[in-house]
Amino acid sequence: MSKNQLNDYFDELDDLDDSQDSSRKRISVKRESKRKEVEAKLFIRAQEIAKEFKFTYKAARFEEAWLLDSLTDIYEHQWISDVLRQVKGGKEASVYLCKSGTDMNVPFVAAKIYRPRALRNLKNDAEYRVGRVDLDADGTALWKEADVNAIAKRSTYGEEVRHKSWIAYEFKTMEKLFEVGVDVPRPYAMEKNAIVMDFIGDESAAAPILNSVNLSSNEAHELFDKVLRNIDVMLANDCIHGDLSAYNILYWNGAITLIDFPQIVLPKSNPTAWNIFQRDVIRVCDYFSAQGVRCDGRKIAADIWTSHGYRIGKQLDPKFLDPEDPADRKLWEKQK
Ligand SMILES: Nc1ncnc2c1ncn2[C@@H]1O[C@H](COP(=O)(O)OP(=O)(O)OP(=O)(O)O)[C@@H](O)[C@H]1O
Ligand SMILES: [Mg+2]
Repeated sequence: MSKNQLNDYFDELDDLDDSQDSSRKRISVKRESKRKEVEAKLFIRAQEIAKEFKFTYKAARFEEAWLLDSLTDIYEHQWISDVLRQVKGGKEASVYLCKSGTDMNVPFVAAKIYRPRALRNLKNDAEYRVGRVDLDADGTALWKEADVNAIAKRSTYGEEVRHKSWIAYEFKTMEKLFEVGVDVPRPYAMEKNAIVMDFIGDESAAAPILNSVNLSSNEAHELFDKVLRNIDVMLANDCIHGDLSAYNILYWNGAITLIDFPQIVLPKSNPTAWNIFQRDVIRVCDYFSAQGVRCDGRKIAADIWTSHGYRIGKQLDPKFLDPEDPADRKLWEKQK
């Protein structure tokens, strides 16, 4: 069974799941037999892979095939030696606690695995992708014109390239930010639709998201400063999180860790970068205000933004300017 065929089956199962919500009973019998057929195929595939790769976590039959298929390369390359449990299952991605491979010096890692369907429906990714160069499966910039055109045309192949680029952005961003000292899980590997990174938490529990934690006043002030420092260092490294809030910050042993980076925005080339940046800062401030920190999100966002030399407001996109037109040239010079 080819990988694409397998993805089609996962997609079909997702579709069947969704349609369960509807009340169209007439076709439900047909759907049920289709489901059985797809599940049987996936079961056979899971059996094939499971001969080489057995893990502790007992997944449902459909999830097992998907999990095994997503993790075989990661397992073969010894990033993980076992899957212990699911930390969080979601519509877009699921995160699993795994035992690390033999040569790693941490006991556990997290594997974030994107669902094929989530990738197909990449929500509003256009807003974030503006100004980004798409990346290939190795995380290097796409250089084949054919690939770039395929993405633009949204052909099946183009969609696959676009998905890889989305995951590669998350991984490459984490690598870059980890190196410059932003508090992110250390990223180890990206293979197929999965990313392996440091697991935040311990064997018995994953770190909670900040939104579910109540902080003492002292700690709230201290962590607020830390989050702002992270936002500042990210901007200094040409990066805006794009979906930052207390839902994408983990809290563990008094420390914070920022997660979830596929939608990162490039401040220099995305014309709506300021709005996205401001939204991130305001959301963070909303949480910390509720924890007793007096802060004005708009002002803080403006201060950080301008301290890096950016102008407030819509940025001009050079794509829409005519270099031969003196008026456009003047506008561009003024912005710079
Ligand atoms: N490195 C990690 N260590 C521990 N837990 C993690 C890690 N990464 C993610 N998680 C857990 O998995 C959840 C989902 O991860 P993430 O936010 O990256 O994915 P997502 O697709 O955006 O999911 P969601 O829509 O639920 O936010 C997080 O809220 C967190 O509970
Ligand atoms: Mg998230």
